[in-house]
Parts: sequence; structure tokens; C-alpha cells
Amino acid sequence: MKNGISDNSVFRHAALLIEGGKIIWVGSMKELSQYSVFPENLIQYDCQGKWLMPGFIDCHTHLVFAGNRSNEFEKRLNGVSYQEIAEQGGGILNTVNATRAASEEDLYQLAIRRAKAMLNNGVTTIEIKSGYGLDHETEKRVLKVAKRIEASLPINISKTYLGAHAIPPEFKGNADAYVNKICDEIMPDLADANFIDAVDVFCENIGFTLAQTEKIFRRAKSLGLAIKGHTEQLSAMGGSELAANMGAMSVDHLEYLQASDVKAMAKNDTVATLLPGAFYYLKETKLPPINLLREHQVPMAIATDFNPGSSPIASLPLILNMACTLFGLTVEEALQGATLNAAKALGMQNQVGTLEAGKLADIVCWDISHPRDLVYEFGVITPSWIMKKGDRVQG
Ligand code: NIG
Ligand code: FE
Repeated sequence: MKNGISDNSVFRHAALLIEGGKIIWVGSMKELSQYSVFPENLIQYDCQGKWLMPGFIDCHTHLVFAGNRSNEFEKRLNGVSYQEIAEQGGGILNTVNATRAASEEDLYQLAIRRAKAMLNNGVTTIEIKSGYGLDHETEKRVLKVAKRIEASLPINISKTYLGAHAIPPEFKGNADAYVNKICDEIMPDLADANFIDAVDVFCENIGFTLAQTEKIFRRAKSLGLAIKGHTEQLSAMGGSELAANMGAMSVDHLEYLQASDVKAMAKNDTVATLLPGAFYYLKETKLPPINLLREHQVPMAIATDFNPGSSPIASLPLILNMACTLFGLTVEEALQGATLNAAKALGMQNQVGTLEAGKLADIVCWDISHPRDLVYEFGVITPSWIMKKGDRVQG
């Protein structure tokens, strides 16, 4: 990380020109002072040595759900595994029951509180997955809430349909019929209503098989939707290789990633999204193969995976710290993982993720001595101000 401007990620003593919500010029104060003609209505902020960074991007969250699973957390502390809880009808299905019973307003109130907490950590873009409704009506309600959050907070929301998160109770023992419903009915309707940008599948022995995953991805692509996967979290199924070869923007979790997966990801420019919060909460001991990803120059993104089961952590800075302490990332890799690489994981790299001409002026000003402070100290640092599409929205 440079103490200047050339890596487009962190700036000190920077000058920016913004028009129509976008950055039109970026450089140093020194360079700016050489110009003598400025637009009359130029707004100036003197950051007095504070740091400007692009708004953080949380590229993998399950933000909209009802209920909580602290009882399962306690069970796990007493030695019951995540898989056992899922097999006993708890886990994701526990949250599905609570979410189905909640009204749109209830879900909105719960989710907006979480989104505001993220904004207070400097996050200006969030991906929100459905997947705690499973049935058509509840999935739609959850995605509607995601849209309402975008309309009411200065945050870009990328919406992902994760109908294939778990097999709904009404389809127990009949997963293929549920996959057909996803492909023939729910996904086309959500795409048609413009409710989703991408489609995700939990490809796992407690989720969906490789063949089911492939079928869902094929249908998504035929509808013009991007694809991404929850893959290699609990076992090596080859879901990452499959997703990458089908053009996935990202594959996520990846503790059980194999060399064949990594090669396919490198070939297809698929981002590796690492979720250290889930690793930590599930007391996983198998590390994702970070060195292999580095060797193959696969871009690594970092996200909270905010959800009530495996990662109830809304603090992206804390998650960046975990990426460093638990996974051995450098501070620079962690920060890039929550900015440029997270943008790539959402296909938004032309809009957000760096401070560059042509991108949205989504900017956070931090009163810190160095950007590494953001990965080091928690609970005290908040943004000095936040700018969203050129407007000061906070501070
Ligand atoms: O990303 N792995 C699958 N889905 C979520 C967890 C869901 C839950 O436990 O509620 C995840 O970790
Ligand atoms: Fe997840």
C-alpha cells in the first residue's frame, strides 16, 4: 500500500473533482494547485491529513431474515456440529420458519438496523442474498426488503437469489422437484420483475448436488443473470470448479478448495470470496489455500457473510482483521478484498471499489494515522464523513 495515490485505493492529501455523482478527476492537492481555473460552484473539503478511501463493499451477506439462533450457538459450544443441527431440522430451516412468519415491515425494520450498522463502518455497497424464505412468496418479500433498503439508505445494493440455500420442508426428500420449481417458476419471475442481479447455490452435502447446481446455473445464465456459489465450505465437491467453468463472478467460503478448482478460477477470472467469520464461528480448522490462490493470481475478496447461523458479525473491519489473523492475508490484501476485489465479485468494478475517474463518488474519510488502523482497532473508529454519489450523507 502506498502512502499516496497511485494504487487508487487510499489517498492522503488528495484532490478530487466530482460531477453528476461520479469522479471526473483525481490527483494530489499539489497537482490541483497548478490549475488556475475552477468551476465557480466548487465545493472544497480540507481533509487535513485524514485518509480518503473508496466506500467498503460487503460482497456476501444474508442481511434479511427474522429470528436468531443464539440457542444453536450455545449447542455448538457444547459440541453439537453445524451439520448435526441442520440434519435435525435446525440451522437454515430454523431461520426459514421465522422469516416466513415475519411481515415485510418486520423484515425491513430488522434489516435496516443491520444495514445502518454496516454504513457506520464505512460500507457503501452491500450484496444481499435471499434464501431464508425458499418459497416463492417469501423470497419475493425478502428481495423487496432489499430494494427498500436501497431506496432508503445511501448504499448500493446488489441482490442475489439464493433459493437453493436449503431444501424447504414441503419438498423434503424431493430436492429435484424443488430445483425444477426454482428453474421453471421462481427464478424467471424474480428476473422478470427485476428483483435480482445474480443467482447463488449452496453446493454442499447438506445443500445441493453438483448436478442440481449446474441445472440452476444454466437456467440463470439463460435468463441473463450472473452466477456465484457457496462452494467448498464443508467438503470438496468440485462446486467451485463447476461454477468457475460456467463463468461465475465469485465462489465463496472455499476452505476445502482443491487445485483443480483454483486452476478453473484463474482461467475464468472468478473471484475467491473468503468468509473468515463463518470459519471462526464454526470453529473450522481447515484453512482455505491462500498460497495457491496467490500463486494463480486469483483475486481474493473478503466479506462478512452476515447471517444468523454461521456469521452473525456485521463489522466488515473486524472480518478484515480475521482475514489477516486467521487466514494470513496481508493488510493490503484485506483492504483490497473489501474494495476492488469485492467490486469484481459483484461485477461492479467499473462503478465502485477504487477512487478513479469514471467511478461513483462513494468515498469515506477516515481520521486515522494509516489505513492499517482500520484492520487493527475496533469499536472506536467511525468515518469522519461519508459521501455517496458525490453527496455528503453522513458527517
Ligand atoms: O454462508 N453456507 C450456507 N449459508 C450460510 C449460513 C446459513 C445459516 O447457517 O443460516 C453461510 O455460511
Ligand atoms: Fe453465505
